Amino acid sequence: MPNVPSKTLLRVDDITMAFGGIVAVANLSLTVETGEILALVGPNGAGKTTTFHVIAGVHKPTAGRIIFDDQDITFYRPDGRCRAGVARTFQITQPFQELTVEENVMVGSLAYHRSIADARKDARRYVGMVGLSDRANVLAKGLSTGQRKRLEMARAMATRPKLLLLDEVTGGVDQKSIPGLIELVKQLRREGLTLVIIEHNMRVINELADRAIFMNRGKKMAEGTPEDVMQRPEVVELYLGEEVLHG
Ligand SMILES: Nc1ncnc2c1ncn2[C@@H]1O[C@H](COP(=O)(O)OP(=O)(O)OP(=O)(O)O)[C@@H](O)[C@H]1O
Ligand SMILES: [Mg+2]
Repeated sequence: MPNVPSKTLLRVDDITMAFGGIVAVANLSLTVETGEILALVGPNGAGKTTTFHVIAGVHKPTAGRIIFDDQDITFYRPDGRCRAGVARTFQITQPFQELTVEENVMVGSLAYHRSIADARKDARRYVGMVGLSDRANVLAKGLSTGQRKRLEMARAMATRPKLLLLDEVTGGVDQKSIPGLIELVKQLRREGLTLVIIEHNMRVINELADRAIFMNRGKKMAEGTPEDVMQRPEVVELYLGEEVLHG
């Protein structure tokens, strides 16, 4: 097969994010190629979630640029970034507790449909995609942690993103639910999605990620294949305790 040149979907260019005196992200640059899964790894407080916030438009960076799909989205608001094709899930899931699973997903679908009936139909499709059809009419507050993570993914997918940012999708999930979540992420990639995952679970990183970036104190410390990055002495030293901690 001929070598198809890869296309860069996201370029984070020399981003710094400071909150007063706290520099959460410092001069971070990274690229994400169309169709790949990139893992952001690092100890607590490394700046991983803040990086997602900056990409998704929750925070405007103190310095630097974000180029997505050849557009400079640095100063787009979160809704503009969503329309451009960026979606994310939250480390701490935030469904509307008193709405059903299907209604939660409809919130995303309504961006595309004027009629409630069409939005509902669309939402059903995404609820099915993440394997929650049998929970579609349950209130979100009745879901398990693993199911809430799936709901987050359905809500994000309903906005029809090109890039999906997953913040610790296996965090706090019981061990037996993890293979199913890995399989779901693989399926999303097969359907053409590009993903950045923040992940502490080594097994998940190894099974999913094409590439990994290790961050510490807001800075990129290492970049390469997951195997390569995880074997670097500085990463082992900083991270081994963390991984044991997060299981
Ligand atoms: N809104 C904010 N205001 C002030 N400081 C913040 C804010 N958001 C994040 N920080 C700080 O920035 C640093 C990076 O936090 P961040 O949440 O990005 O880390 P993380 O790598 O996602 O960690 P974890 O693995 O614990 O989720 C931390 O020191 C955090 O306290
Ligand atoms: Mg975080």
